[in-house]
Formats: sequence, structure tokens, C-alpha cells
Amino acid sequence: MKLELNKVCRSFDSRHALLDASASFEKLQSLVLIGPSGGGKSTLLRIIAGLETPDSGSVIVNEKRIAFDEASLVLHRRDIGVVFQSFNLFPHLTALENLLLPLTVAHGHSKTHARDLALHILSRFSLEGHANQKPTSLSGGQKQRIAIARALVTQPKLILLDEPTSALDPEMTNEVLEMVDELRNQGRELILVTHEMAFASRAADQVAFIADGRILESGPPGELFSTPRTPQLQTFLSKEIRR
Ligand SMILES: Nc1ncnc2c1ncn2[C@@H]1O[C@H](COP(=O)(O)OP(=O)(O)O)[C@@H](O)[C@H]1O
Ligand SMILES: [Mg+2]
Repeated sequence: MKLELNKVCRSFDSRHALLDASASFEKLQSLVLIGPSGGGKSTLLRIIAGLETPDSGSVIVNEKRIAFDEASLVLHRRDIGVVFQSFNLFPHLTALENLLLPLTVAHGHSKTHARDLALHILSRFSLEGHANQKPTSLSGGQKQRIAIARALVTQPKLILLDEPTSALDPEMTNEVLEMVDELRNQGRELILVTHEMAFASRAADQVAFIADGRILESGPPGELFSTPRTPQLQTFLSKEIRR
């Protein structure tokens, strides 16, 4: 994937969430966004997902500029799978039904075909045993893995994960990170926001550090973590390591 962010701005009630966020990545498979809370990571991810509109600036994915009119966004969103911090599974539906919904509603697949696709994804990640369970009977880690499976089931071109482990107990973090690792090994393209610095340095091709609405630094994890250039990243890393 090639990703270009050109002076992306977004304000809420005249306070900026993103202010001229710019960066350019060539041949990207996994991009990890790090940075202090409130820095603008989720806003950027939501803009790339087509769930939020920038006030100005442009986002270009594989030479194609995202158009933010509603008709284009409907199409754009079909190419993107999104996983949020807190599961967002429909509580009244089983795991399988949660996967069927985007297939039948957003992608117009028949029920039988949708069922085949959903069961295939569930078994690929050894989740088929949970197909008929509702979210209340699943652990946090299981719920989040179902949520990732749901994001994958429509075969999106790009998967965006916003702090997928931060609502989990520590012992469940690994099973979710392992699934993210598996996605990477399967060659999926993904953008991940995480506070798991060890995971970031292992799993990222490129890391972008976002603070105060700007991308202050970006580069390969080895470089960024060993020689942070800005005082903001130096402070951030020293705090994260002490966590
Ligand atoms: N929908 C919204 N309404 C009002 N303010 C928002 C909204 N979304 C984000 N913000 C504000 O924008 C800033 C950046 O937020 P966010 O992108 O969520 O940062 P991060 O994900 O890095 O914690 C914060 O000050 C946040 O309060
Ligand atoms: Mg966030």
C-alpha cells in the first residue's frame, strides 16, 4: 500500500484534533500509530476509514484520493475493515450473525454465501466453536477476535485497528495481538493504533508518532524507538517504557 497524508486538518468546536498532519509511506504493509492520548490518532484513523471528514487536506491511498462526498464514501468504506477498542459487536446477535450482517447488508451477498464466507473466516482463526455464542458469553479477548473476524469477512483491502487491546485484561492482550500478527503473516495490509510498544516495534514496517494533531516523526520502528528526534517522542517513549 502507498499512503499519503497531505496537511490533513480536522477541528471539533474550534479545537484542532488534526493540524496539518502530513506523511508519506511507500510500500507499506503494516503502519502503527503511536502517541499520547488526545493527539489525534483515532481521528486520523476514522478519516482514512471514511467515517470522518477532514476540514482540509487530502488522503491518498494507492494513488487514489479519498473523496469525502457521501456516495463515494459508501463505496470507500466497503474496502476498509475497522476494529475499535470496545468490540462493537451487536449484543443481541450471535458471533456468526455479527459476521453475516456486513456481508448481507453492506455487500449484498445471499444468506447461504454469506454463511459460507463467515464460517470460513471463523474456522481460519479457530473461532468456529464460538459461532453460536452471543457476546455476553464470550471473554473480552474472544469478543475482540470475533470483531477482527467480522472486519475481515468482507475481504477489505485495508484493515484499521484502533487500540484493539486497550479494553482488555492483560492476559487477553496476547491472543488478540497474535491474531493481528497472523493477519500480517497472511500479507494483509493494516494500520494499527496501539500502546503496546514491544508489539509495535516487532510488527510495524513503519511507525508514525502523532501528538498535538501532527505527525511529528515517522519511520521504521528500529530507527524511531532507538533515536527519537523530537522531545515529544523522547518523553512519550520514556513514559511508555515505565508503564
Ligand atoms: N467527535 C468529537 N467531538 C469532539 N471532540 C473530538 C471528537 N473526536 C475527537 N475529538 C477531540 O480531538 C482530539 C483528538 O482526539 P483523538 O483523535 O481521539 O485522539 P487519540 O486517538 O490520539 O487519543 C481530542 O482533543 C479529542 O477530545
Ligand atoms: Mg484514540
